[in-house]
Amino acid sequence: MNPSGLLLLLTLITLTSAAVKLQERFNWRQLDWVFPNPQIRERAIASGDYIPTNGLPVGIERWQNKLFVSVPRWRNGIPATLNYIDMNRTPSGSPALIPYPSLENNIAGDCANGLSTVYRIKADKCGRLWVLDTGTVGIGNTTQNVCPYALNVFDLATDRRIRRYELRPEDTNPNTFIANIAIDIGRNCEDAFAYFSDELGYGLVSYSWEQNRSWRFEHSFFFPDPLRGDFNVAGLNFQWGEEGIFGMALSPLLADGSRTLYFSPLASHREFSVSTRILRDESRVEESYHDFSYFTEERTGGGHTTSRVMSDDGVMLFNLIDQNAVGCWNSGTTYTPRNHDIVDRDDEGLVFPADVKIDETNTVWVISDRMPVFLIAELDFTDINFRIFSAPLDNLLQGTVCAARRAPHRFSPISLLNKHEIFDYVSDALSPGYQAPKLIGYTGPTTHGFQTPKAFVYNQHNNVALKTESPPTTTYYSSSYTPFAGHNIFNSNAANYQKKNEWGNQFYY
Ligand SMILES: *[C@@H]1O[C@H](CO)[C@@H](O)[C@H](O)[C@H]1NC(C)=O
Ligand SMILES: *[C@@H]1O[C@H](CO)[C@@H](O)[C@H](O)[C@H]1NC(C)=O
Repeated sequence: MNPSGLLLLLTLITLTSAAVKLQERFNWRQLDWVFPNPQIRERAIASGDYIPTNGLPVGIERWQNKLFVSVPRWRNGIPATLNYIDMNRTPSGSPALIPYPSLENNIAGDCANGLSTVYRIKADKCGRLWVLDTGTVGIGNTTQNVCPYALNVFDLATDRRIRRYELRPEDTNPNTFIANIAIDIGRNCEDAFAYFSDELGYGLVSYSWEQNRSWRFEHSFFFPDPLRGDFNVAGLNFQWGEEGIFGMALSPLLADGSRTLYFSPLASHREFSVSTRILRDESRVEESYHDFSYFTEERTGGGHTTSRVMSDDGVMLFNLIDQNAVGCWNSGTTYTPRNHDIVDRDDEGLVFPADVKIDETNTVWVISDRMPVFLIAELDFTDINFRIFSAPLDNLLQGTVCAARRAPHRFSPISLLNKHEIFDYVSDALSPGYQAPKLIGYTGPTTHGFQTPKAFVYNQHNNVALKTESPPTTTYYSSSYTPFAGHNIFNSNAANYQKKNEWGNQFYY
């Protein structure tokens, strides 16, 4: 290959390897929590109630100024499983997590008043937060069921729990593992259902808010595809061959008041669906085999997905865990690879994009957490491991096949920033001889550490004032100069940069 061809190739790799549309808002090397006071925090560290390197965030949800973050108790030393970030106080950066509704209500094994392990959470349009507590601590062969599976619903206006419902013994089996939930609001706030996907017990549980009852569906579409159990993420190869029904998304309301629930087993590249008319009707638990549908074409190019969400105008976003990417499909089009697209990809920042959400303002939120590295290998806690991104849905869909033929928005999207300004700013930052901005230290009460270049740019353009008392601890390096590669700035000192590059060589290429 001639030198210019090589340069072009390198540029193309650069351009496709980092998030362009998603803006990094928060990031952490390891998680920290807000404790009532520093003494309690120190005691928690001494006693092992807080072990900083044991926390892995897996779920997010945004409601007003709160950005909820769930942290399962897979290992010891997780002070709280349900938490939030107060975005009024810390709109970006690496804030310590605030237990929700309180630290006392997050005690593992306190079945009546506590939360043991929470995965996905959902805020509804009626101001409620739906939280499924699995009642477990541990993961895989270390799992202990310290409490039954219980749905907890909180009133977000008062932060009070307004319902706790334990799943019936018949709703689960000895293999049950439920991480995902979908919330279906019908005619009004009382006409609400929750659906829980049982990944390892291969079931789908419906809960009626009005009736305060639950029931369980079983179907062979909930099983894993035996040919799709092999995974490659972050350069790790592993087999998750038993993983059945996982990610779910509900369509907008249809004319008859029902929705379509779309779902995929984790070990699968297929998409299945069922009408909520079936799921809402307890009598259909029997003999509903033919009411479940599937699309004939599979996702291609690495089609494993664990999390998905559908916009009010029917565009589905889903994480693509083998591709460090978020994909899209416009449900007004046929489900075929031609109509699938990538809204963003980042081979460093989006390694295992664990959860994808769309909030009331049509802003998309994505959390990435390098989960397989945490579970199978070991995270490098000198590196940034956890990131939360956001972007207006319209920006994400721009230029993708999913943008075509969309119905008009019900909500006007709030544009968080001006992309062109960002790119201009960032290309400045990459000019030869450029000196890194001397800011980076934020010493607010609940915020630790530093900002990434992207968070810095975001703050600059949103007039977020950050304190700059501490001396700069971070310098930026660019791996190469390309006009658009702002996201290519590495946030590190020289040693870390070297390390990161080694890590990259090992895992990504
Ligand atoms: C649990 O599984 C891990 C790896 O999957 C293995 O190393 C460990 O020995 C197992 N422990 C028990 C008690 O079976
Ligand atoms: C719902 O059912 C559960 C258990 O079946 C019960 O403990 C709870 O009080 C019920 N809640 C309401 C609001 O009826």
